[in-house]
Amino acid sequence: MKIIRAKDYQDMSRKAANIISAQVILKPDSVLGLATGSSPMGIYSQLIKWFQKGDVDFSACTTFNLDEYRGLTADHDQSYHYFMYKNFFGSINVPDNRINLPDGAQMAAEKECARYDAAIRAAGGIDLQLLGMGLNGHIGFNEPDDYFSKGTHCVDLTESTIEANKRFFASADEVPRQAYTMGVQTIMLARKIVLVVSGENKAEIVRDAFFGPVTPRVPASILQLHTDVSVIADDAALALCNVM
Ligand code: F6R
Repeated sequence: MKIIRAKDYQDMSRKAANIISAQVILKPDSVLGLATGSSPMGIYSQLIKWFQKGDVDFSACTTFNLDEYRGLTADHDQSYHYFMYKNFFGSINVPDNRINLPDGAQMAAEKECARYDAAIRAAGGIDLQLLGMGLNGHIGFNEPDDYFSKGTHCVDLTESTIEANKRFFASADEVPRQAYTMGVQTIMLARKIVLVVSGENKAEIVRDAFFGPVTPRVPASILQLHTDVSVIADDAALALCNVM
């Protein structure tokens, strides 16, 4: 595992965007695994700028997002589908038919999860998976548990996640109760992983996940066992770790 220190959020975003654009330049038909949330926003805006300058071309790429709320249609403004088009896909040239997210409108959970895993396999697997990390060490919607999850599956959102997300909805009742997420095994099968983390509120979990024991109680800790992981963390997130 490589830990790459960045000065701040912007520096972290530029460094991660560099790795992603190098991946796409070296392998134009790369399969990219993508994330939502605040951590990757700066990466997406940097990649859009480089795309607009003609420095990177996504026309042969395929993408798979980590997760989606179950019960939200793609056009719902809180769906991850909507987020990705607004913040990235709408401004670059990945063809629509090669953009993949779990289908939140498909309520047959087992069928949808099996379809998603089959689509990832059919694309040849993920070349580069981009990840953020939750305050409790979750990756995707894989929350702390007694075991590591395997393939794409449906999860019940925790009360704290529902509570944290209710500000985006008209009321807490409208927050979806479940989500589809790639499993820990799906993530570990990616050939290369880039995890970005920023801010002092993540300092403790950075220490626990990457310098503590590998345990399903801290899902991101399993990344210590992957052979090609770059964690790009800013000074604030590395405050409790002794790394150069
Ligand atoms: C996003 C995702 C989540 C986030 C994590 C961190 O698709 O699966 O695991 O990466 O919750 O979120 P932020 O970046 O908002 O701190």
